[in-house]
Amino acid sequence: MKKTKAIVFNAYGTLLDSFSPFDQYKDQLGKNALVIYKLWRGKRLQYSSQLCLMNRYTSYDKITRYALDYACDAYDVHDEELKDRIIAAHSTLECYPDIKETLETLHKDGYMLSVLSNGSPKTVKHALEVSGIDKFIDRRFSTDLIKAYKPSPAVYEYVNEELAIPSKKICFVSSNSWDIAGSVSYGFKSIWLNRDNHTPEKFPFTPDIEISSMADLPAALAG
Ligand code: LAC
Repeated sequence: MKKTKAIVFNAYGTLLDSFSPFDQYKDQLGKNALVIYKLWRGKRLQYSSQLCLMNRYTSYDKITRYALDYACDAYDVHDEELKDRIIAAHSTLECYPDIKETLETLHKDGYMLSVLSNGSPKTVKHALEVSGIDKFIDRRFSTDLIKAYKPSPAVYEYVNEELAIPSKKICFVSSNSWDIAGSVSYGFKSIWLNRDNHTPEKFPFTPDIEISSMADLPAALAG
């Protein structure tokens, strides 16, 4: 990937640990905290895609809440105050332990570093600032600005146009296999950060490289 000039990261689950609010409130959520978290993430993706198919673009903040309401309902959690607290905690996420050092290295190595997130602009900006990694990020892109969601090609195209360099010089990094498929289908190079040994989605658009830790990214890019 020696031609790479710009690296574009997904935010939630890639840089920012979106499980932390569920971990923080696991006593109140009970034994189903992890399954509620997984259902919440899946529903959020489903709702963002389905609302776009309905031509009813809705902000990611609202979708995040709809999905949490669904996941909690499914496991009989009806504590509105608890849900409010989880949503509030979601705007101040920690980054994963392997992120800061890697971003600093990549920044020093001269790559242009960006974030492309389905998250609402203010929410993502705040989360990156609070987690202490905003200083390494040159550009922040929210799909909200074009009222679409990943993996729509319009989203990756928007970033490509903004960065104004050939798509093959842009490497997209995400922990979501579906997001990787979307970026490869569009024309980016891609690296799948598969921290938890997930099964890859069965799309015919596969990552150029798979890594299991963000710390492996500089070497993967240099290879
Ligand atoms: C994001 C979600 C999809 O940050 O993880 O865009």
